[in-house]
Amino acid sequence: MLSSEQVERFQRDGYLVLEGFVDPAACVELKQRAVELVHEWQPGAHRTIFTTDEQERSSNEEFLSSGGKVWCFFEEEAFGDDGQLRQAKELSINKIGHAQHDLDPVFERFTYTPELAEVATDIGLADALVLQSMYIFKQPGIGGEVGCHQDATFLYTDPITVTGFWFAIEDATLENGCLWAAPGGHHAPLSKVFKRAGGPDDGGTVFEELDASPLPAVPDDLVPLEVPAGTLVLLDGRLPHWSDVNRSGRSRHAYSVHCISAASEYPEWNWLQRPADMPLRRLDRNDATSSVR
Ligand code: FE2
Repeated sequence: MLSSEQVERFQRDGYLVLEGFVDPAACVELKQRAVELVHEWQPGAHRTIFTTDEQERSSNEEFLSSGGKVWCFFEEEAFGDDGQLRQAKELSINKIGHAQHDLDPVFERFTYTPELAEVATDIGLADALVLQSMYIFKQPGIGGEVGCHQDATFLYTDPITVTGFWFAIEDATLENGCLWAAPGGHHAPLSKVFKRAGGPDDGGTVFEELDASPLPAVPDDLVPLEVPAGTLVLLDGRLPHWSDVNRSGRSRHAYSVHCISAASEYPEWNWLQRPADMPLRRLDRNDATSSVR
């Protein structure tokens, strides 16, 4: 699937942009399904807000149990001072996560393709297990910033193997909060890990610093990845990346999948844990169930 030049570029830069990887019709289908899931979803008494502020995250049971669920997380700015939603529910959700690739047939079809398995193999992940998925809305007007981070902080394995597969479901531009990446930044050490504080059943989480050198400066040390819908962006697990708030009138939908090597060890202190009856599934090059191309 990838040329040796593309593989070399991925190894050098820590990311690779593959325009036209996904058929536009598949993007439309995934987007419709995501909107349907939000429409059907009832938050009940809980309002799970996604924020990069760890205080908020750790207090939040839905977040910690979402590794085996399809859950909707509100944008930080979704609620007004009166506690009511400022815009319709469908325009207030930050993301859906983190197991729709295994629990929803449309997401499953989009995710488990021979093409994605081949790309993973080409970059050295022949035994890729799909660990989590996120459908990110980056809503018009209130789409939240995602602070500069390395994915291996949140999805750690020994050795580090986590790799991000980020699909643009809508055009991503400077105006609506496209991804930014630090070219070559994956050669630096992992700066910290995000851990469950007191074992798998404890509610708390904590950051543990591994390396004191700062992450690249935002936005000066990063480059914007403005890409059309249908683009796949590969992200090395140690690559610092960031996305800004979306103050434009246009959403920026994206779907991201994170894979790890089956040969690496996944510690039980990672925040994301799957229920025992939901083992991780491999990306399979011979998977005949679907094709997105
Ligand atoms: Fe990320």
